[in-house]
Amino acid sequence: MNANIVPASPENISRAAELLRAGRLVAFPTETVYGLAGDATDDRAVARIFAAKGRPRFNPLIVHVPSLAAAEAIGEFDARAHAAARQFWPGPLTLVLRRRAASGVALLACAGLDTVAIRVPAHPVAHALLRQTGRPLAAPSANRSGHVSPTQAAHVAAELGNRVALILDGGACAVGLESTVLDLSGGAPTLLRPGGVTLEELSALLGDIAVAGGDPSAPRAPGQLASHYAPTLPLRLDTTTALPGEALLAFGPETPAGFAEMLNLSESGDLAEAAANLFALLRRLDRPQFTGIAVMPIPERALGRAINDRLRRAAARG
Ligand code: TXA
Ligand code: MG
Repeated sequence: MNANIVPASPENISRAAELLRAGRLVAFPTETVYGLAGDATDDRAVARIFAAKGRPRFNPLIVHVPSLAAAEAIGEFDARAHAAARQFWPGPLTLVLRRRAASGVALLACAGLDTVAIRVPAHPVAHALLRQTGRPLAAPSANRSGHVSPTQAAHVAAELGNRVALILDGGACAVGLESTVLDLSGGAPTLLRPGGVTLEELSALLGDIAVAGGDPSAPRAPGQLASHYAPTLPLRLDTTTALPGEALLAFGPETPAGFAEMLNLSESGDLAEAAANLFALLRRLDRPQFTGIAVMPIPERALGRAINDRLRRAAARG
């Protein structure tokens, strides 16, 4: 085990908060995926996040806060934003709002935009860390740029090793997919990234929601390029027939034969279970002994939308 991984005990959370206040980077669990946190008010700490991830460009990062009150100090909330925050926070929803002039958030964290992405995570370790640090934390997923997001502490260690001062181990992430990103900064509410809160849930609260990203080469959410989350092996989607040497990422009770290996996202066909398993199983199948990974069809509804979004990005390489 990597020496950087420590259990998320109260003592270690305090240590992590001290490191963060000193401008260092800490990986921490959220209910969606593990995040790579730095003090969002410190330009140098934010720059270290980009360096550790090997991000080719300065995409804007999500700013994590412990409460709606803390979020209101950073972004401008209208009635829709308040309604969304009241219903889905703490939880897997990120709101893109107009940034307050006195937000204190480093410009680098917002990539110079006049908007800011804010989220109140539900994970108790994330919450304790935010409270103890007393600063908003900028945190992208704790993987190298373009790789699959980590849903376990060991994934973070494999991705970032000593580029991070400390990895707080809070077990496997319950949601397993990144947060939904909803743009409420101006006109119609726009879904920038499908995620843990579904489009159906958002529409029930806010009415019609525009969906960005019909053209994946012209992303609305900076950083939402088509090829993201890519494993090393090629992926074939929506298939039940095997090519020689292929592994199968299955879904549901009825699975085809003929694959070199099979792992099932959810034998009962449960989309929440499938989402929670997605990145860990992709990692487990991404081995040189296979020629590729075939993926069974996943229904395009509720969390299936977010799962298919990640799979399409993983399949669209180069
Ligand atoms: O679940 C999550 O959201 C995880 C955990 C750690 O919280 N974080 C995460 O961060 O996935 P990251 O940096 O990998 O994704 C941030 C997403 C990107 O798609 C980015 O383009 C979008 O949020 N975003 C951030 N700020 C934005 C802004 N001002 N306008 C539009 N999109 C923005
Ligand atoms: Mg990411």
